[in-house]
Amino acid sequence: TFLTGLAAVPVIATVGCSPRTTAGAAPDTLRPLPIPPLAPSTVDATGTRRFTLTAASGTTEMIPGKRTPTWGFNGSILGPTIRARRGEKVGFTITNRLPEPTTVHWHGMHVPARHDGGPHQTIAPGGTWKPEWTVNQPGATLWYHPHPHGSTEKHAYRGLAGMFLVDDDQTTTAALPHDYGVDDIPLIVQDRRFTASGALDESSPSDIGLLGDTIITNGIAGTYFDVAGPRVRLRILNGSGGRMYNFGLADGSAFSMIASDGGLLPRPVSLTRLALSPGERAEIVVSVGQSPVRLRAFPFDDPQGIGNDDAAQFGLDDSFDILELRPAETRTPAPALPTSLATISQLNPATAAVRRRFDLQWYMINRQRMDMNRIDHTSRVDTTELWTVRNRDNWPHNFHVHDTQFQIVDVDGRRPPAHLSGWKDTVYVPPGSTIRLILRFSDYTDPTFPYMYHCHLMLHEDQGMMGQFLVLAPGQRPAPMTMPMSGP
Ligand code: C2O
Ligand code: CU
Repeated sequence: TFLTGLAAVPVIATVGCSPRTTAGAAPDTLRPLPIPPLAPSTVDATGTRRFTLTAASGTTEMIPGKRTPTWGFNGSILGPTIRARRGEKVGFTITNRLPEPTTVHWHGMHVPARHDGGPHQTIAPGGTWKPEWTVNQPGATLWYHPHPHGSTEKHAYRGLAGMFLVDDDQTTTAALPHDYGVDDIPLIVQDRRFTASGALDESSPSDIGLLGDTIITNGIAGTYFDVAGPRVRLRILNGSGGRMYNFGLADGSAFSMIASDGGLLPRPVSLTRLALSPGERAEIVVSVGQSPVRLRAFPFDDPQGIGNDDAAQFGLDDSFDILELRPAETRTPAPALPTSLATISQLNPATAAVRRRFDLQWYMINRQRMDMNRIDHTSRVDTTELWTVRNRDNWPHNFHVHDTQFQIVDVDGRRPPAHLSGWKDTVYVPPGSTIRLILRFSDYTDPTFPYMYHCHLMLHEDQGMMGQFLVLAPGQRPAPMTMPMSGP
């Protein structure tokens, strides 16, 4: 069967002009963009919305005519889109039918540490894990992916990842496109390399991880989408292990960014380029007129102090077609976007009670590699902290924090641009730069199970560019578990 994990898209279309990309291997014929199905759920007697996920292997026609062995949740690749409303209690039954232990982490979610799905919540082969929590954060485009320590890059590369959409009244307002799969489209962008037989090539990573020459959108190479109305909302996830994308439209026209990792921006921001590092998301609204519009990844104009040779090594010179948006037959003018989207109360650096520093260098943070038996710091619940994150390398890194969303105070001393001024959980940290973040942890304390912070270039994370922290109530003493141990 074709793409058992995704909506059936059997039609192979031929297009007249599908230029080859500079770095790659885009097929000459585009196929319809697969839309991950919404995960079915049932609400039980306690009011908990219950989902079932099973991780298993399969085969997927990622490139036309080739059967590629892949991993997926409830299908051969990726996973269903999970959707819940703010305030709902959700529960999961997750079974691992893979030959290796894995975990499922809720990236961007405010979630108790023992249900976070980090490296301590391993699901053994044949095992089942049942996390549950109440969704309590602004509507946002989140995602889920494996987080087994040392194997995250490979598990994601083989196909394990899915979207987790949190809805609230603002994100589903009539003024924003929000008809899933029609004008509100998840777009998981990843890069892959294939062997001659069509298997995923896991060999020769660069210093920032496996860089593929073929772009995969929602699991397959070379896609188009028929836009039914005058505009479309794309919820873009950089689901790659190490590749950075500088998104734009091929014709140079502008689009509106409406949300960053943690939810809606205060107001739409008009952009012609949007850089996303691994793990970051953005929601954009694209107007589609008379002719097709191509979403492309462009070379980085200013590779931020990276020398030219290195820029090539890290894929920053590459360009790729990502998705072709085809207009509908009948056109109506695009309604104006709301001028204001969300109210974000700014955390004030002057109120920060705690300051911490995180130096990223040589696969380490603060000169240490991740140790699952070492707690790197403890944070006090409901306390504002100011984190200074420095990239001391000539390589790209980024920085991700579990459980919370942060605000960027400044980048090398300058206020962040408008599109980086909302809630974030992952931020690109260019070589040599310093980024200050302000954040707080609320609601959940646990003396035993830690949360993680790390570089989200998955190879770096696997190599140990990660640390762990406990969130404690006043007076609570740490009582961390020691590994190895199985899930809770
Ligand atoms: Cu997306 Cu700690 O991960
Ligand atoms: Cu890194």
